Amino acid sequence: MTDNQRLLLAIALCLVYCAWVGFMIFSHYARQRDRRHVASGAFIVAYASQTGTAKQWAEYQADLLGAERPVKVIALNDLAIDTLRKARDALFVVSTYGDGEPPDNGRRFYRALQQHNKQHNSALLQPLSYRIIALGDSQYPAFCAFGEQLDDALQQSGATAIAALKKVDRAQSQPSSSETFERAESALRANTWRVTTQQQINRADRRELFMVTLNAVQALPTWQAGDILDVRPHNDGAAMAEWLQKHDLSPDTIIAVKGTPTPLAQVLQTRQLTDLPASGNAEQHILRMPLLPLRSYSIASVPEEGQLKLIVRKQYHPDGTPGIGSGWLTTYAGDKEPFCAYVKDNPLCHIAQHDVPLVLIGAGSGLAGIRAQLAKRYYTNSNADIWLIYGEQSPQLDNVIPAAIDVWQAKFARLNIQHAYSRGEPRQYVQDIVVAAAEELQNFIDRGAHIYVCGSHQGMGQAVHQTLTEVLGDDALMQLIDEQRYHRDTY
Ligand SMILES: Cc1cc2nc3c(=O)[nH]c(=O)nc-3n(C[C@H](O)[C@H](O)[C@H](O)COP(=O)(O)OP(=O)(O)OC[C@H]3O[C@@H](n4cnc5c(N)ncnc54)[C@H](O)[C@@H]3O)c2cc1C
Ligand SMILES: Cc1cc2nc3c(=O)[nH]c(=O)nc-3n(C[C@H](O)[C@H](O)[C@H](O)COP(=O)(O)O)c2cc1C
Repeated sequence: MTDNQRLLLAIALCLVYCAWVGFMIFSHYARQRDRRHVASGAFIVAYASQTGTAKQWAEYQADLLGAERPVKVIALNDLAIDTLRKARDALFVVSTYGDGEPPDNGRRFYRALQQHNKQHNSALLQPLSYRIIALGDSQYPAFCAFGEQLDDALQQSGATAIAALKKVDRAQSQPSSSETFERAESALRANTWRVTTQQQINRADRRELFMVTLNAVQALPTWQAGDILDVRPHNDGAAMAEWLQKHDLSPDTIIAVKGTPTPLAQVLQTRQLTDLPASGNAEQHILRMPLLPLRSYSIASVPEEGQLKLIVRKQYHPDGTPGIGSGWLTTYAGDKEPFCAYVKDNPLCHIAQHDVPLVLIGAGSGLAGIRAQLAKRYYTNSNADIWLIYGEQSPQLDNVIPAAIDVWQAKFARLNIQHAYSRGEPRQYVQDIVVAAAEELQNFIDRGAHIYVCGSHQGMGQAVHQTLTEVLGDDALMQLIDEQRYHRDTY
């Protein structure tokens, strides 16, 4: 090939490359425009959801409404205030996160609305009629706070509430009396599982950390690193036997559940064992006994492993009995008693890019989500930098990382692990490491890193969020949230 031909070939290749980059940029913006586009006259169903429940409710509500008129389901952050101004009707389905805060995909919209109310003090949204379904958990002090804040802000901007704010309480285990919840729950992916191993991975008493392995009774469902398993726990067999004896009932007694004859032992497995009244119809009372509440766990494995793994802290009640969910998973469940659990999509914790650096920050049972993200990098053969900052109490009792990730650790050439032990030497928390390594963190961010935080919100997530705000700056952190590069899997 002559020099000229080589030059022409190089130019042609450059042009093809530029055309490809142009096409990718165009399709990216076209996709964004599609996602945000709202046809005129459409009924808007906007959701703000951290772990997908409010999104599922929104989609279900949209199905009900869709029979009557066009409906657009949209994340709150994708909804422009101007679009809302032109709409006549909207339904907001929003959960509450953090300490009474908006979920990440509603935060920007809420800020914009507040700012507008402050600056203009006008009836910007006067033509709009709306209602709000607020999902929350009454175990948190700021119950459904974001739903209330949004309600206030919409009213301030002149919109009219056509119904009182409807609060849905996750801690109430019997919301299934509401048809909506039942339908939304049935849209979740229910599977039957068996626990095959319960391995304690630390050496501490009364705060044991377990790696729990589940096998699917039918085909293994799919999920992604960052997703959640909602478990319907069962009662301990001994507690059930005691209840039956106390009420002089046989486990083999047959009662009709929605017309299906079912042994009493099976009915009691998933119900709160409240006392029966002295008189009245026992069967009807049993059927009204609330279900044990669902318990959420960050999935610690990826489907490529062929099993679903959880990392569970065993909790104890003041009387020494184990917690409802953690006790079931770490102690009572065995491979003989299959149970139901739902794989829940948690899109804000999915990390699509695996060729950019990753900062993993977690403590205690937060190792679950971290393990799943590492597994994903392992199975995608990523060799980008990974920086893992993990906190626990004691270097002697809590050296848990080897048991959790030993199988692949050697394969990660660029994995840097830093431990923070609150009762070690020095006494440190994960946020102390973040402060000390602020420059390095900025360097990771400049190279396009994602940050993923997993573990208890009160104990760790809140402090890490505060520290990241100080180290990177509020605006930069907001931008990372908007770019879906800061993922919070905290509970
Ligand atoms: C999105 C998400 C992901 C999660 N991921 C994980 C995970 O990966 N690993 C993990 O271990 N956990 C995880 N959790 C926490 C988990 O869902 C449960 O909250 C946890 O296992 C405790 O539930 P339990 O039913 O075992 O305890 P419960 O029976 O609910 O008891 C919890 C605690 O409440 C206190 N308590 C209960 N009753 C009383 C009482 N009468 N008086 C005083 N105190 C009382 C006790 O101190 C007890 O320790 C996650 C939570 C969420 C929301
Ligand atoms: C870390 C965390 C913090 C939460 N904080 C609150 C809160 O302050 N107030 C509240 O009512 N519910 C709170 N919740 C409960 C959620 O709002 C509730 O579980 C809701 O159903 C989640 O919906 P989503 O999956 O759409 O995010 C919190 C849940 C988590 C995991």
